[in-house]
Amino acid sequence: MVKSIRRDVFVAFLCLVVCLSAAEAAIKTYQFDIQESNVSRLCHAKPIVTVNGMFPGPTIYAREGDRVRINVTNHAQYNISIHWHGLKQYRNGWADGPAYITQCPIKTGNSYVYDFNVTGQRGTLWWHAHILWLRATVYGAIVIMPQQGTPFPFPQPDREEVIVLGEWWNADVEAVENQGNQLGLPPNMSDAHTINGKPGPLFPCSEKHTFAMEVEQGKLYMLRIINAALNDELFFGLSGHSMTVVEIDAVYTKPFSTNAILIAPGQTTTVLVRTNQIPGRYFMAARPFMDVPIPVDNKTATAIFQYKGIPDTILPTLPLLPAPNDTNFAMSYNAKLRSLNTPNFPANVPLNVDRHMFFTIGLGVNPCPTCLNGTKLVASLNNISFVMPETALLQAHYFDMNDVYTLDFPDKPPTPFNYTGAPLTANLRTVRGTRLSKIAFNSSVELVIQDTNLLSVESHPFHLHGYNFFVVGTGVGNFDPAKDPANYNLVDPPERNTVGVPTGGWAAIRFRADNPGVWFFHCHLELHTGWGLKTAFVVEDGPGSDHNILPPPADLPPC
Ligand code: C2O
Repeated sequence: MVKSIRRDVFVAFLCLVVCLSAAEAAIKTYQFDIQESNVSRLCHAKPIVTVNGMFPGPTIYAREGDRVRINVTNHAQYNISIHWHGLKQYRNGWADGPAYITQCPIKTGNSYVYDFNVTGQRGTLWWHAHILWLRATVYGAIVIMPQQGTPFPFPQPDREEVIVLGEWWNADVEAVENQGNQLGLPPNMSDAHTINGKPGPLFPCSEKHTFAMEVEQGKLYMLRIINAALNDELFFGLSGHSMTVVEIDAVYTKPFSTNAILIAPGQTTTVLVRTNQIPGRYFMAARPFMDVPIPVDNKTATAIFQYKGIPDTILPTLPLLPAPNDTNFAMSYNAKLRSLNTPNFPANVPLNVDRHMFFTIGLGVNPCPTCLNGTKLVASLNNISFVMPETALLQAHYFDMNDVYTLDFPDKPPTPFNYTGAPLTANLRTVRGTRLSKIAFNSSVELVIQDTNLLSVESHPFHLHGYNFFVVGTGVGNFDPAKDPANYNLVDPPERNTVGVPTGGWAAIRFRADNPGVWFFHCHLELHTGWGLKTAFVVEDGPGSDHNILPPPADLPPC
């Protein structure tokens, strides 16, 4: 197992050395070859779509201020696009990546260069395919080092490691997705969770399929944890050691220590771990959080945290993770997340709101003549189930095409109701449409995302492209516009790009719309995104010459 220790530690270390000695801003270039590669997991070999034959794909290393150019060449049978999740892409939606939102996909045999600057961000982010379910195997980490001469606002770690959590199917994920669409029901759940692409020894064929990292006693390790799973919020822990959370979604937090973290699909969490325990072998483990009776792949992925010199024959122990339905842990954990908010890293929370939005999350059953049961599950925001266009929305906006989308996405649900009361099965007449919302440049926006009991309550991780936002409040039950804002945290709320809307509750986020473009907003559970739980914002150009969308690159894939 020690042999399977990945090169990332060394690469990261090398980068620390090379990057630190490099001149100011640099251009970092990468080649991504999208290809089908044979990968075996759970005693099961099959071709999966990968980047450069790697699973997970390569880590992108950059420094704040760098320009990054990634040439993506598609050799696979599927059309592809790659999203740099959490990168703000100021004025530069062309490099954002969601298929049919900011670009048309890169067709088989073609290439596209994602060219962007890393501005005002440092920490852990990630990249993934942003079309269909291909992100199940096409994903990797993005590590952004702070600017030259700027230390971390916490002790300098001796070593660092990327820990990407994922889900694995013993089948072609596109076939899995299609099977679900034909049934009009959720497709088969995953066969395993993974840590750095490997499920670990609680599964068959564990020898080859276990990620292990070797550590030395008395050192400080930084773990950059990413949830790349398609559909599962996860708890993650490391037996025998406590973790200190220092950063989420590439924003520093007030440090706090914990035995387990909760991480939703799309989110990242960077923790520090001191190797101050009796030298041994310790398990890292990840398994889902699900606090309603919805079936979920509840299997535990494990990996090994192995002190140097300890033989592989010592059996590791599992960390004590919260119970799968431990809502209290989830709430108290999320309540501990606070922006660092220092003069160097301020939390610039918008204090006044120009535009109030209130979006309800709805699940429903619609007729479906082509589905096996004659019906299918759909998901909606404010009763609108989003229909993907055939021309990318950003191009439609930039070139003033007027038949691709409408700008009438409502700021409120059509009819208020008791959102989280008794279970509702009433068909609220969910309509379908490519309906977007227009936002004035530089206006401050408050968006309350409200879960509902339409079919079932459930926790939903919502991701906004092109921005970070502040999570100024969350709560259980119905949002009360008269009372709840009084309890907002407007001082040091967590700043992130993906927020978990609590089961049967609400989350209030604020952001300043200073990045012109078309920005996707969606549930990061791929199942729900596919059912229509998404929309997009058109943020208008501002008055200044540097307040408009940059011209599209010449190699932008045509539709
Ligand atoms: Cu990480 Cu639109 O997604």
